[in-house]
Amino acid sequence: MLNKKTVEDICVKGKRVLVRCDFNVPLADGAITDDKRIRESLKTISYLKNQGAKVILCSHLGRPKGEFNPKYSLAPVAVRLGELLGCTVTMAADVVGEDAQAKAAALKDGELLLLENVRYHAQEEKNDPDFAKALASLAEIYVNDAFGTSHRAHASTAGVADYLPAVCGYLIQKEIDIMGKALSDPKRPFVAILGGAKVSDKIGVITNLLEKVDTLVIGGGMAYTFLRAMGYPIGTSICEEDKVDLAKQLMATAKEKGVKFLIPQDNRIGDRYAPDCNFQTINSDNIPDGWMGLDIGPKTEALFADAIRGAGTVVWNGPMGVSEWENFASGTIAVAKAVAESGAVSIIGGGDSAAAVEKLGFADKMTHISTGGGASLEFLEGIELPGIAALNDKN
Ligand code: 3PG
Repeated sequence: MLNKKTVEDICVKGKRVLVRCDFNVPLADGAITDDKRIRESLKTISYLKNQGAKVILCSHLGRPKGEFNPKYSLAPVAVRLGELLGCTVTMAADVVGEDAQAKAAALKDGELLLLENVRYHAQEEKNDPDFAKALASLAEIYVNDAFGTSHRAHASTAGVADYLPAVCGYLIQKEIDIMGKALSDPKRPFVAILGGAKVSDKIGVITNLLEKVDTLVIGGGMAYTFLRAMGYPIGTSICEEDKVDLAKQLMATAKEKGVKFLIPQDNRIGDRYAPDCNFQTINSDNIPDGWMGLDIGPKTEALFADAIRGAGTVVWNGPMGVSEWENFASGTIAVAKAVAESGAVSIIGGGDSAAAVEKLGFADKMTHISTGGGASLEFLEGIELPGIAALNDKN
């Protein structure tokens, strides 16, 4: 399905191979709190190591805005990676400077080096050709396995491919194959569940999915723009006034195409935006002034669960409410549970919905949890991801 060369299409033995991973992992007090992205990179790294490549790993971490900042150092990732692989992962003190150059040159076959955060250089996010060239000069082959960053046209995700043979790793292959199949040849009924705060973030994905799905389920903050479009009072709920007409249009398109379009029938509402606010459950046509929708209600949970239960394929991106607050987590939990129990091919877009599924202990019940938040969303929108487009095509 993915028509790009892979690590298996190129001889890496004895070669210096630059591997772009997405090691942008959450940290608390310098400790990694979720190492999924590191674990998902192991297959490619182990393959290259076992083939006798000299492996030079690179990634970004956070948004250090082009400046050195120890808070965003990849050093904890080198330690965790070493633990998971049972070998030493040498850490470079810089990205393309003297230390990186010396350590890359000294690598023996099968050894691993991790460069410092590529975003310590402002040229990274500008996709600066000189910076891409400097990165490329450390190696003879480029492997992109950073699915989570493949929607960014940066020097280490795209630019570097202009200077080296460029192939993809196993994680990118897995992500594209699973999500690509869901979009092009889904087991039906195909149900997409979209949540999150803003319609504007999801216009592209709603538009693309309306061409493909049998049922589209809308929850989260963006549901209130749709409720407003239906003429309901929404109190102080989040609403994008300039997207109300678009919401009307999207619902009309769904009707034309025979796509079932489900929005909340009832809601858990609060009297202010705070975890300890007063709250109540109310039907969607009856939200009082001064109250805001913060989660879907129990009738809606049942409605959504019913649609999910009969699905052949489910794609889910975005929470149903303010799921990090105990009183407004119920809708997201109900959807996670319904997806886990559905028996459908289940694909969870990264970001908040992936975090919710992991936290609730449903991760092993899902077919695929993407390592990319923004990247999986852009993929579902049908956008070509620059970090993948830059790679060499299969002959
Ligand atoms: C992510 O966490 O979605 C990726 O690592 C990309 O990070 P970015 O949004 O800072 O580019």
